[in-house]
Order: sequence, then structure tokens, then C-alpha cells
Amino acid sequence: MKKKILVTGGTGYIGSHTATELILEGYDVVIIDNLYNSGAEVADRIEMITGTKPPLEVFDLCDRERLGTFFSEHNDVSAIIHFAAYKAVGESVNKPLEYYRNNLLSLINLLDCMKQFAVPFMVFSSSCTVYGQPEKLPVSEDSPIQPAMSPYGNTKQIGEEIIRDTVASVSDIKAISLRYFNPIGAHPSALIGELPRGVPENLVPFITQTACGLRDELKVFGNDYDTPDGSCIRDYLHVVDLAKAHVVAVRRLLAGTNKMNYEIFNLGTGRGVSVLEAISSFERVTGLKLNYTITERRPGDIEKIWADPSLANRELGWRTLSTLDDAMRTAWEWEKKIRKM
Ligand code: UD1
Repeated sequence: MKKKILVTGGTGYIGSHTATELILEGYDVVIIDNLYNSGAEVADRIEMITGTKPPLEVFDLCDRERLGTFFSEHNDVSAIIHFAAYKAVGESVNKPLEYYRNNLLSLINLLDCMKQFAVPFMVFSSSCTVYGQPEKLPVSEDSPIQPAMSPYGNTKQIGEEIIRDTVASVSDIKAISLRYFNPIGAHPSALIGELPRGVPENLVPFITQTACGLRDELKVFGNDYDTPDGSCIRDYLHVVDLAKAHVVAVRRLLAGTNKMNYEIFNLGTGRGVSVLEAISSFERVTGLKLNYTITERRPGDIEKIWADPSLANRELGWRTLSTLDDAMRTAWEWEKKIRKM
């Protein structure tokens, strides 16, 4: 019998890629999404890739009663992958209550339903933001958690704690938090990808929107950091690699091969890449010249971070397969497709 996986935020960027990989690996997928930051047509696009259209239930996870009705109707959900959340760092500074309410209430409601409806497993979408600027690089899972730099980052930290406490109090709930570094790129079919609302905050969508003429120029936030070329360093991983890690994490929980009731894994390539290197990669694979200028630092940016992914390599048998160039190429193919270029 096929196992049914609930993917919250399944029409979003990482959620849609994960729903796709789950279906390709033989799982049944059901999506809950309020379409705040995505569209219902994503389910059709997943069908174009996989041959199966995942059912999409459109409602808000903050509605506990509606969520209860969902679980009464879907009493065969084996595990939940929880992506649905607000994710714009800058916006969260101006709208902290919206971020805390949305990101934390939805998680609490899900955990509450897991207890009530005996759903035993959750995979949670966390972030390397919990490490702040680590003293030691690469950063491993036991590095100290730093005070969050934004309400968004704080919702990830508090989210992890809520899960830890819940798992400790309910013996039959088990969970895995995945701390992503910087997901980029798009599906090689160019049928799904990242589609930010308004002006993108993240680097790669800003690059691709600049290249297609939607933005005048990319601003590189600072070239006076203590890094080889002066620009910030991040660990950029391809979203399809990231999606596959979720399939592996779900499989681990379903198979009972997890070593602890609550586990945490870093997901990254293990390689630090500067903003200027990312731009070079984009220019190399597309043959385009990107219009960019160096400007002042962005407040709240950390200087450099990259993952020690060895725990995920060892325990999950997972590692990234795509290169930075692959990610840039697919991000560009996706951007061209949605802009009908
Ligand atoms: C941030 C969050 C991360 C979150 C992610 C998703 C922190 C520390 N990190 O990642 O947790 O999951 O957003 O929204 O809060 N850059 C430019 N010009 C631009 C845009 C970005 O130079 O127009 C540079 C930034 O300075 C940074 C790099 O590109 O060095 C990556 O930035 P971005 O894509 O916004 O991701 P993070 O800030 O790393």
C-alpha cells in the first residue's frame, strides 16, 4: 500500500519540488496550501512532471477546526512535511506579529492534530539562520544557536523548540528538522520553480529577474567583508537535491531507522560560494552579462556561512549531486519560461 504524505505549503517553492520527488518515489501526496505565495496551477504542473495530480486543499493551517476536519477526512496520512510559512526576512521585521502568528500557530495546530489523529511523523522545514554567524566553519549541527536576527529566524528557532518539547512529551510522535542552507535553482523541466511576490529579497531570483529585464540592476550588498573577494559567502544547494533529502527523511521515519525521536540535520553542499562567484556562475552558464553594482552592506547579513553536511551524508545517505552551474542554468530556464522569453 502506498503511504500518504501530507505536504503543507506544497505549491510553494521547496514544497512543490518535494511533492514531485515524493510522487516519483511512489508516495501518495496530499497538499494543504492557502495559496498566499503560490498558485493552484502548481498542482497541474506537478502532474505534467509526474503523471499524477496531487489533491490540493486550499485553507489556512491557522484554522484549527478546518485542519481537524481535514484529518478526519484523511485518516490515512502517514507523515507530514511542513513547509507552509512566511519566509521573507525583511518583511518579518516590519510584521513580527503576522510572522509569529502564522508560522507558530500553524505548527502548533499541526502538532495538536498529530496527537489527536495519531499521525506519528513530521519533517520540519528549518534554516541555517538558527546559527547566526558561527564562530567555527563549516557549521555542524552541534554549533551553538545564536539569538535570531529577525522575527522570521526566531520563528524557526522557536518552531524547533516547540517540536522538541512536543516529541519529548508524546512518545509516539517523532520528528526531523532539516536546516537548509540557501536553496536555489528550479526543476530541470522548467515547470516548477521559485516565484517570489513583488521584488525578490533573495539573490538568485534577483539575478534572473535582472537578466530578463524586470529589474535594472542587481545590488551586491558589500564587498568589504573578510572573505577572499570581499562579498558574503553562502552555501547554495539545488532545490531538487533539497527535495530529495525530504524523501529520505520521511523514509527514515517510516522505516523506524531514526536514532532519536527528534533529529536535526544540516542540508548544504559543504562549499561556500561568494556573491561574486554566484554571479560569475550565472554569467558563465547563460553567456549573459549581468548588470550589477556594489552597494553598502545589507543590515542583518552575516558574513560567511557554509554547512558541514557530514551528518546528513552519513545518517541519511544524502548528498548534493547538482553543481552551482546546474542550479543557475535551471533557475534561468525557469525564469525564461515564466516570462515567455
Ligand atoms: C536569508 C535567511 C535564510 C532564509 C532565506 C530565505 C538569514 C541569515 N538568512 O538567507 O534563513 O531561509 O533568506 O528567504 O536570515 N544578496 C545581494 N543582493 C541581493 C540579494 C542578496 O548581494 O539583491 C546577497 C546577500 O547579501 C547574501 C546573499 O546574496 O550574501 C544571499 O542572500 P539571500 O538570497 O537573501 O539569502 P540569505 O540572506 O543568505
